[in-house]
Amino acid sequence: MKVLVTGGAGYIGAHVVRLLQRRDDTVIVVDDLSTGVAENVGTAALVHLDLSVPDCVEKLENVLTEYAVDAVIHIAAKKQVGESVERPVWYYQQNVGGFGHLLQAMQAAGVNKMMFSSSAAAYGKADVPAGQLVTEDTAPQPISPYGETKLVCEWMMRAAGVSWGLRGVGLRYFNVAGTGWPELGDPTVLNLIPLALRSLTAGERPKVFGNDYPTPDGTGIRDYVHVLDLADAHLAALDYLERDDRPYDIFNVGTGHGSSVLEVLAEIGKSSGYAIDPEIVARRPGDPAEVAADVSRIKEALGWTSRHTLAEMTDSAWTAWELTHGEPKVAPTGTGRATPARR
Ligand code: WQD
Repeated sequence: MKVLVTGGAGYIGAHVVRLLQRRDDTVIVVDDLSTGVAENVGTAALVHLDLSVPDCVEKLENVLTEYAVDAVIHIAAKKQVGESVERPVWYYQQNVGGFGHLLQAMQAAGVNKMMFSSSAAAYGKADVPAGQLVTEDTAPQPISPYGETKLVCEWMMRAAGVSWGLRGVGLRYFNVAGTGWPELGDPTVLNLIPLALRSLTAGERPKVFGNDYPTPDGTGIRDYVHVLDLADAHLAALDYLERDDRPYDIFNVGTGHGSSVLEVLAEIGKSSGYAIDPEIVARRPGDPAEVAADVSRIKEALGWTSRHTLAEMTDSAWTAWELTHGEPKVAPTGTGRATPARR
């Protein structure tokens, strides 16, 4: 199969590219390299292109035709929630505009299969009782422009299905973590695990955004999913697009199990060998107490389930951090995991 992966030079995209190549698919990457790294695409063809500029449509159409692409995996997007609140119009231009250009090019080139990276951010403040999992039928109520753009793209994908027969499937990612290969670690320091690793190696205390939530230990609960499992879900979604019978077009990708901030920090301590002495600070505005995915739909329809543990996520994130960031300012003094749970 010939697969075009937008955003294939980024953290998640590069994992998807490697798994596709492992099963002998031909991969073409389209990336603007704004956060992606060219070396991370390996032997895949790399087309340097910004999807948000209108003249990309013709170029994209040519790439789709020239390589006789069978299906597109669309991962390229801006993904910082805070930045989207500050620059909402730009987020719509980048994420929704880019998506529209891609759809135009696909229709023109006659490519009718697309897997789209959506996000749990689409659920936003969706009304879910404490302790209950979020299902794909839970009404989305995005809080940030970022979450809004993901939901709008899902709608555009569905509308293109009705209009010209696009076969689309959207994966709503929960909290993605870890690495499958140390050199493919998340280069951004925006989420809990990298933020905690940066604090620890700089000799600072990792911050906990509130310990007065209605959860067992008072800290926020999220569904952390290993990036390798997530990448594997992309392959399952591509196979699903081959089927004529496709009862659903949106799937949660998580583990079905939530972990609290303190539980994640404890695992980071075991992986890295640092003693964990977190600083409890105020809640972060907009953070829900608890979000974890109901994953029964993806299991039933795609036959996909997560396989990796939280320990494997923090172990691999720590290994990648050491490789990328070199000697820590402050060396670990605690007791690390005796036998790291590496794969
Ligand atoms: C996780 C938990 C924080 C940092 C993000 C995106 C979302 C989706 C998943 C893709 C929360 C707490 C964090 C810190 C902390 N991704 N925390 N101290 O906000 O759940 O979701 O990833 O599209 O769109 O927003 O992830 O890693 O920021 O936070 O206590 O220094 O850790 O409050 O409970 P979040 P996160």
